Amino acid sequence: MKKIAVLPGDGIGKEVTEEAVKVLKKVVENSQEEFEIEQAPVGGTAYDLTGTPLPEATLNLAKESDAVLLGAVGGLKWESLDYSVRPERALLGLRKELNLYCNLRPAKVFPALASASSLKEEIISGTDIMVVRELVGGIYFGEPKGVDTLPDGTQKGYNTLVYTTPEIERIAHSAFQTARLRDKRVVSVDKANVLECTELWRNVVIKVHKEHYSDIELSHMYVDNAAMQLVRSPKQFDVIVTTNMFGDILSDIASMLTGSIGMLPSASLCGTKGMYEPVHGSAPDIAGQNKANPIATILSVAMMLKYSFAMEKEAEAIEKAVEGVLNDGLRTIDIASGSSQETLGTVEMGEEILKRL
Ligand code: IPM
Ligand code: MG
Repeated sequence: MKKIAVLPGDGIGKEVTEEAVKVLKKVVENSQEEFEIEQAPVGGTAYDLTGTPLPEATLNLAKESDAVLLGAVGGLKWESLDYSVRPERALLGLRKELNLYCNLRPAKVFPALASASSLKEEIISGTDIMVVRELVGGIYFGEPKGVDTLPDGTQKGYNTLVYTTPEIERIAHSAFQTARLRDKRVVSVDKANVLECTELWRNVVIKVHKEHYSDIELSHMYVDNAAMQLVRSPKQFDVIVTTNMFGDILSDIASMLTGSIGMLPSASLCGTKGMYEPVHGSAPDIAGQNKANPIATILSVAMMLKYSFAMEKEAEAIEKAVEGVLNDGLRTIDIASGSSQETLGTVEMGEEILKRL
């Protein structure tokens, strides 16, 4: 028996996870393995219910599950709350508590959507990048951090960028192993010309490469250049490995190459244990209107089947079904090319994908 925790969260999170769970149930219907699915609140929704965005019961459910499917968290309603109880804290808490250090964010252009990107089609078509983002270290979690008031009444805000050798080694291994199943090229992104911490990053990545991965091509890029290269000529990249904050920024850039952030899944892993979520947020502006694109969450289920349950065939079936709807010209509003095109709602898109499974 495998256990899956479903944490819909806020805004469109509820709508998109509902469709994704239907897809999940359908593809595992005939499998040997039995799946138990349990839901729990997270984010602002959990805060409203319990006073904390990551209730003990939700965290425990996530811990005892083999995989977690998360919708999205956050919304205007909770933006003025203290940092410690903001919906985003739940995400960071889950990542840290489950030690999900390896974040995989694919940015792959679907041929049918190549014209939906804000960049020229000839630049982005054929792009297939995997961003491997370190997820439980770096400046997001480094100590000391805070905002202090100084004796003269002015204030000082600070965070700490810190990485240890083992933290860099394990994410480097993840990146090289990921590359081995792809085009065998890794670009490690740092700011080694300015930040000592990322000079260490570079040196450790070089060492891991030298000792274990002579079959993989490794190169290095400063983060500013990487940002530029991503929009200048994205096809040069296969795997990008980088720190928590650089990965946050670069994965958003990479997402726009594909036309819509509504298409991108992600996996946050520690071994086969993983949390799977769409890259997009809770989109409060369209929540509850059956407008959200469920594809990113549905593709997150495909990643779950692949990375947590070694069910490659089922994962591929989902990817094929998604390609099918796109090739048939079906679109949610975020990926529709013109105002004239008829669009599908969240539920209808989910149904079309189910039909093709
Ligand atoms: C992401 C998001 C999060 C992050 C926020 C919501 C905490 O931007 O997953 O990329 O910065 O990691
Ligand atoms: Mg981000």
